[in-house]
Amino acid sequence: PLVSMTDMLNKAKDGGYAVGQFNLNNLEFTQAILQAAEEEKSPVILGVSEGAARYMSGFTTVVKMVEGLLEDLNITVPVAIHLDHGSSFDKCKEAIDAGFTSVMIDASHGPFEENVEVTSKVVEYAHAKGVSVEAELGVVGGQEDDVVADGVIYADPKECKELVERTGIDTLAPALGSVHGPYKGEPNLGFKEMEQIGNEAGVPIVLHGGTGIPTKDIQKAISYGTAKINVNTENQIASAKKVREVLAADSEVYDPRKYLGPAREVIKETVIGKMREFGSSSKA
Ligand code: G3H
Ligand code: ZN
Repeated sequence: PLVSMTDMLNKAKDGGYAVGQFNLNNLEFTQAILQAAEEEKSPVILGVSEGAARYMSGFTTVVKMVEGLLEDLNITVPVAIHLDHGSSFDKCKEAIDAGFTSVMIDASHGPFEENVEVTSKVVEYAHAKGVSVEAELGVVGGQEDDVVADGVIYADPKECKELVERTGIDTLAPALGSVHGPYKGEPNLGFKEMEQIGNEAGVPIVLHGGTGIPTKDIQKAISYGTAKINVNTENQIASAKKVREVLAADSEVYDPRKYLGPAREVIKETVIGKMREFGSSSKA
C-alpha cells in the first residue's frame, strides 16, 4: 500500500538497516522496483525527480501508473512515492496534490534562514495531508537532472539539529561528500559529522548519491543513523548496458519489449542486490 516514509524510516533507524530510494524513469523501472520489493518483502521508496516527472508527462501520470501497478502486481509491501529534490514549495504542493506520499524540499543552495522558511512551509502543507518531508543541508556533488553542483559543501551538524527543530521535518539529508552519478575515485564521506548528526539531529538521516559507495561505507553510514539511501545511476547504467548488449547481439530486433524487457530484469536484480546490502529485505 501507498504510505509516507515516516514509519518506514523510523523502523529502519531502530532496526539498524536502511530503506532504498530507487528513482523511476519509466514504466519498466517502476515495474522492476516494485517487483523487487515484493519478492524481497522489503519496504521501498520510489524516487521521482522533477525532470523524470516531466519526462513521464507529469505527477498525475506517475501516481496513476504506480497505483495501477500496485493493484496489477498485487504489491503488499509498504511503498512511498517521493518527490526527489523538490525545487520549490509550489512543486512540492503540486506533487502532494497529485497524490505523492512524500516530498523532498531541496533548499540547501540558499541561505540557512531561507531553507528554514521554505522547509517549514512545506512541512505545514504536507503534514496536514499525512505526507512526509525530507530536507537537505550542504551540497551533494555531481549532477542529477536539474540538480547541478560544481563542488561539494559538507553539512554543519549544528545547523542540522536546528533545521530539524525549527521545521519538524521527518528526515534530513546532510550532504557529507556524496556525489550524484559515478564517483571519481573512492568516495570520501564525512563520517565524523554523520555520527554527530545521526546522534543529535533526532531524525533518521538520508544518504544521497548511493551509486558507487562501497559496502563498508554503506554499513558505517547505517550504523550512524542513515535510514534511507538513494540510488539512481546504478540502475540506469545496468539497464543501458543490457539494452546495448541486446541490440548489438541482434541487428534485427525492433520490438521494444525485446530490449526493454531484459533491461527491466537487470534493474530488478540490481535493486534486489541493494535491498540485501541495505538490510531491508524481509522487513516489510
Ligand atoms: O536523489 C537521488 C540520488 O541521490 C541518486 O544518486 O544517481 O548517484 O545513485 P546516484
Ligand atoms: Zn539526490
